[in-house]
Amino acid sequence: MTMNPSADTGSETVTTDPTPADSTPPAVAKTTPIATRAPKPHDRGEPDSTVDSADGHLVSLKGLRAFYGDSEAVKGVDLEFEPNRVTAMIGPSGCGKSTLVRCINRMHEEIPGARAEGGVLLDEQDVYADKVDVVAVRRSIGMVFQKPNPFPTMSIFDNVASGVRLSGKRTNDLKDVVERSLRGAGLWEEVKDRLGEAGLGLSGGQQQRLCIARTIAVQPEVIIMDEPCSALDPIATLRVEELISELKRRYTIILVTHNMQQAARIADRTAFMLTGEMVEFADTEKIFTNPDDERTEDYVTGKFG
Ligand SMILES: Nc1ncnc2c1ncn2[C@@H]1O[C@H](COP(=O)(O)OP(=O)(O)OP(=O)(O)O)[C@@H](O)[C@H]1O
Ligand SMILES: [Mg+2]
Repeated sequence: MTMNPSADTGSETVTTDPTPADSTPPAVAKTTPIATRAPKPHDRGEPDSTVDSADGHLVSLKGLRAFYGDSEAVKGVDLEFEPNRVTAMIGPSGCGKSTLVRCINRMHEEIPGARAEGGVLLDEQDVYADKVDVVAVRRSIGMVFQKPNPFPTMSIFDNVASGVRLSGKRTNDLKDVVERSLRGAGLWEEVKDRLGEAGLGLSGGQQQRLCIARTIAVQPEVIIMDEPCSALDPIATLRVEELISELKRRYTIILVTHNMQQAARIADRTAFMLTGEMVEFADTEKIFTNPDDERTEDYVTGKFG
């Protein structure tokens, strides 16, 4: 695990605002190495033959609590998001799903009056420990939002390159990274002849895959997706679901969804939340066919929510 995958990547590239008003990428910040691991080929800019290997990282929540002022939105959650698995977070509106996932990459604390307690571990590293670089955390734990949010004045190429470019990569390397990321997001064939055109000129489903390409371009270790398909039509949803199933070969995927069929289709594990508490966490099949808790059963069978 590393919070600073390579020395030449020192920029914040996670978009904290789902609807950026301009094309300015997030500010450059200097990262400090806080942990080390053996460098991977892609860290050294070499061809990456490890794409399909088990490469994900464990995210563990230890008694995580999240507050907005005095109001407690997440009430002491213990949970493990396993490497190379898709874990779905389900539960009725307002139960704390988005708050919980925003705590994982420390975006929660950006909200005035908001704070978190307890631990979030990325492998062995507590992301809330002193001296941990928040920018590096957000680089390692990328996020895709409900509404596709390409930088509106940037081309397709620049959207994907934005975070990597700030790190000073050479233009030739950049082209490789952009192509590899767009291929990884299943978008390359559709856009390879129009890379200079505006990202906003793409369809909604293509824009969401562009945002996924932008997220993977900076080589995160975990990808959080908060209702990534809720603005998409069924065909585009299917494409993104297929993509998520591909991406788990390389990443730990945390997927917030209101779509029970989606969770059943692509999640390996499913966590059910209610009023800030984790009610049940198990294999997806068990959650949907034979849950232990009556509240889980009532929710997945549509009795409330
Ligand atoms: N910025 C905020 N300020 C104050 N309270 C907030 C804020 N964001 C969320 N909350 C509150 O925290 C609780 C959890 O909200 P959260 O957005 O995490 O729920 P959710 O499960 O993601 O819901 P949804 O399915 O509607 O997206 C709710 O009571 C909500 O009103
Ligand atoms: Mg939410």
